[in-house]
Amino acid sequence: MYEAFYNLHTAPFQNTPNPRFFFETEQHKEALAKLEYTVRNRRGFALITGEIGAGKTTLTRTLIRRLGHDARVALINNTRVSSQQLLRMIASEFGVEASQTADKASLLVTLKRFVEHQKMVGRNCVVIIDEGQCLSIDEFEEIRLLTNLESETDKLVQLLILGQPELRATLRHPRLAPLIQRIVMYCHLQPMDFDDMTRYIAFRLVRASNGRPNVDFSRNALEAIYERSKGVPRLVNLICDNALLVGYSGDSRLIDSRVVRRAISQMLPNFEGSMTDMFQEDPVASDAISADPQPQQELDDGRRI
Ligand SMILES: Nc1ncnc2c1ncn2[C@@H]1O[C@H](COP(=O)(O)OP(=O)(O)OP(=O)(O)O)[C@@H](O)[C@H]1O
Ligand SMILES: [Mg+2]
Repeated sequence: MYEAFYNLHTAPFQNTPNPRFFFETEQHKEALAKLEYTVRNRRGFALITGEIGAGKTTLTRTLIRRLGHDARVALINNTRVSSQQLLRMIASEFGVEASQTADKASLLVTLKRFVEHQKMVGRNCVVIIDEGQCLSIDEFEEIRLLTNLESETDKLVQLLILGQPELRATLRHPRLAPLIQRIVMYCHLQPMDFDDMTRYIAFRLVRASNGRPNVDFSRNALEAIYERSKGVPRLVNLICDNALLVGYSGDSRLIDSRVVRRAISQMLPNFEGSMTDMFQEDPVASDAISADPQPQQELDDGRRI
């Protein structure tokens, strides 16, 4: 609703894993390169863990777009299924016909035929398990069977597993040692640091604009966003989206710290506070509004974007 006001053609901070808005911080770039390398060189198995909302799903969508027609991808999001259902889901994602009654052995035979054929026609087969932290040890063992599908020279299925940090605890289980030994690439996604976050916000604004977004974020505003979001992209998006809305309602194209604090107080419940004050206005925000008689100062006190 505020897009035209800021000279934007779309909302810049939507919380969707849209590859068009993919911003390459050093670590996102490294993670993407590792995933792409694993697939294109048929190395077998890569693992990415990352903090909640740090960009794992966005990474998978960007990878799928990059691979384009070079790969057949089975993307598994819903991992709350039985281990046999998991193989069936993978087959169905690949578009492979498998009878409802097929047991594990015949499912594997069907999958093997499919991946061998894809290799012959020059395509990679990729299984991406997102939300890997929801998988049980049994399911991981089932998945390991896929890593056994190999030719004399290559892995026939590239397995990419992404998940929140607790996934690492599951993978430490002794029964999964054979799977862990097969990991060829690993990285962990952290939230962004302040500078990356600043560039991230600028990037998304430019991407969403018709050339030049007509909006400024003051240095103090950026610091307030960082303070609350700790650089987690999902939270940065939430705060910025609401800050743009607050700015628009106040007819201001300068997003300063007062605007940000108001946005935060209205939209993000403070779970550290008590239940009664969770949805009340953040006292810092209201103080800041009355205690800052010279908002113009922020224009001059440091970097703006
Ligand atoms: N590198 C990035 N470039 C652009 N946007 C990003 C990036 N990383 C994350 N985001 C944004 O943050 C939102 C949350 O990211 P995403 O859903 O990918 O996180 P996640 O790590 O999969 O979270 P969860 O642990 O909850 O599954 C995305 O919808 C996207 O808009
Ligand atoms: Mg995710």
